[in-house]
Amino acid sequence: MDELEKLKAELKKLNIEYEKIRELPPEKRGEFGRELNAKKTAILAAIQKAEEAALDVDVEPIDITAPCDVNQPLPSLYPVSQGSAHPLMSELDRVISIYQLMGFDVLESRQLDDEFHMFDSLNFAKEHPARDGYDTFRTEEGLIPPAHTSTMQHRVLKKYKNKLDDGGEIAVVVPGRVFRNEDVDATHEHTFYQCEGVYVSRDCTMGQMIGILKEFFEKYYEQKLDIRTQPGYFPFTEPSLEFMIEKPKALGGKKGDYLEMGGCGMIHPNVLKMAGIDPEQYHGFAWGGGIDRLVMLRYGLMDVRYFESGNLNFLKEF
Ligand code: DAH
Repeated sequence: MDELEKLKAELKKLNIEYEKIRELPPEKRGEFGRELNAKKTAILAAIQKAEEAALDVDVEPIDITAPCDVNQPLPSLYPVSQGSAHPLMSELDRVISIYQLMGFDVLESRQLDDEFHMFDSLNFAKEHPARDGYDTFRTEEGLIPPAHTSTMQHRVLKKYKNKLDDGGEIAVVVPGRVFRNEDVDATHEHTFYQCEGVYVSRDCTMGQMIGILKEFFEKYYEQKLDIRTQPGYFPFTEPSLEFMIEKPKALGGKKGDYLEMGGCGMIHPNVLKMAGIDPEQYHGFAWGGGIDRLVMLRYGLMDVRYFESGNLNFLKEF
């Protein structure tokens, strides 16, 4: 029996001694009780000392800054669940790799931008009411958390225009997080994701753009899909279109069910000019659409608010 166990056994015996107090004549009880209490205090102190000594054993030091598997073996209490990628991020990876396979470069957008990239570089006339259509947030310093990934068009055109001089074309997609000051409900979030596409060459056509969109959606939903366009208005494209896809049958889509997925069009000559590209020599098309919507449709999700909710039950399903 080790020291600690001995002490505990002694304590047990002593506790039984207390029973005897009742049997003693009243004048002797006081002294007997005091003796027992003194013994008990001594035993409890010895127990505490022995317990502390038991904890003070030599343990192998571990490197707490190292990845967990370096300090093997893992104690059994160590949490082993490592979480998983957020569904929007893993789907965004799929989106990007589909475009990469089609030959597009990828450039990430930023989460804080300015008036020039949000509006001026995109041919929004000063004071034009279309500026109000984007429900933009503004910081106290006058910066703008981008309301769409089109804020990157000017940067893409400038960064890649040397490809045109070398006889090539610009083909870039820009995924990014965007922000709008609007009322939140099951289909609207203040924070969501978009992916923008920009293509410029000497002789590209609207037909090629629609072909790229159709190819993208068919790859993403892994099935044949019909795509439709209708006239739209964006200051940075002329002509401008809105595009829709047929709701996938696997998700309850019936013949004739179309869902709006984004906007597109031929890049406005002023947008090319502002980036130093001659619109007499080059043409371009651009498109942009929401990622949240795309993912909701793929998984049959009914409420966009789940994505930003941090709800673990939701996240664990992916
Ligand atoms: N940025 C637009 C929006 O969020 C969508 C869009 C329309 C993007 C036309 C484009 C475009 O690149 O050419 O509403």
